[in-house]
Amino acid sequence: MGEGRPSILVTRKLPDAVEARLDRDYASHLNPSDRILDTDGLIAAAEGKDALLVTASERMSAEVFERMPASVRAIATYSAGFEHIDLAAARARGIPVTNTPDVLTDSTAELAMMLILCAARRAYEGDRMVRTDSWPGWSPTMMLGIEVTGKRLGILGMGRIGRALARLARGFNMTVHYTNRARLAPKAESGAIFHASPEALLEQSEFLSINCPATAETLRFLDADRIARLPDGAVVVNTARGTLLDDEALIAALRSGKVAAAGLDVFEGEPAIHPGYRELDNVFLMPHTGSGTIEARNAMGFRCLDNLDAYFAGCEPPDRVA
Ligand code: DGY
Repeated sequence: MGEGRPSILVTRKLPDAVEARLDRDYASHLNPSDRILDTDGLIAAAEGKDALLVTASERMSAEVFERMPASVRAIATYSAGFEHIDLAAARARGIPVTNTPDVLTDSTAELAMMLILCAARRAYEGDRMVRTDSWPGWSPTMMLGIEVTGKRLGILGMGRIGRALARLARGFNMTVHYTNRARLAPKAESGAIFHASPEALLEQSEFLSINCPATAETLRFLDADRIARLPDGAVVVNTARGTLLDDEALIAALRSGKVAAAGLDVFEGEPAIHPGYRELDNVFLMPHTGSGTIEARNAMGFRCLDNLDAYFAGCEPPDRVA
């Protein structure tokens, strides 16, 4: 930590390479114990700091911005998503906010593909059977899953992650359908079939992957009415945000077989997930690790620092969202 360098409050423990760069370039205030700060703790810790490096585990509400110490001039969030930050409140306080797009695209698309495969091929049941010594031995009819190759994949939200998933899915010879706020240019579309309405997409989605941001418009998008539009025995995966689906409706559909299987990495109220999921064998669960590779998590930290470096050099931060 050096005299004259901007001081940065870092709210969570970050990968070693990121903390090393923080220590090299800033008066960094790290969180080695990784204890999550509540609002009072965050405000107290922010006192006297020039900038905050926060994560999706801190809710940066209007109240937080009202109480934000005057010293805080910039906020970098260690996430692509920024629904945990009240951007209007940040603007009202004149505090620029940046995120980390691009760098977690491939890791999140990989996880979405993994969820598709693990849900369709009953990976949870198979792993448990082998581990608990309850495998009766090979049989022609045991634990049959759904073949992924050649099926129709519906992608809700064809941003960076949706497009990266489409590339992976083409390797499985899947036909990609999508809906998006705007139709992509033919090159970016790469043969994917556009549907102007999400409802039309659902009707085609033997596999459905949710890849759109969580906003007021997409809150509980996948509810009972929309699930009813899916082909019988569809597979649903979600690597975006838990609030995009209605847990009660999805659990009911998984119980009835309307949805054959699901793969979920994100949950409303996580880590306190809806307990109904734990009772189901046909759901493959992951603890929000879409960006959980060392490559992506280092790159996310470096992206935060690139933005803060630009801000403190008097330039426009490249990933400014507010
Ligand atoms: C993101 O970057 O949005 C990831 O989900 C981590 O919060």
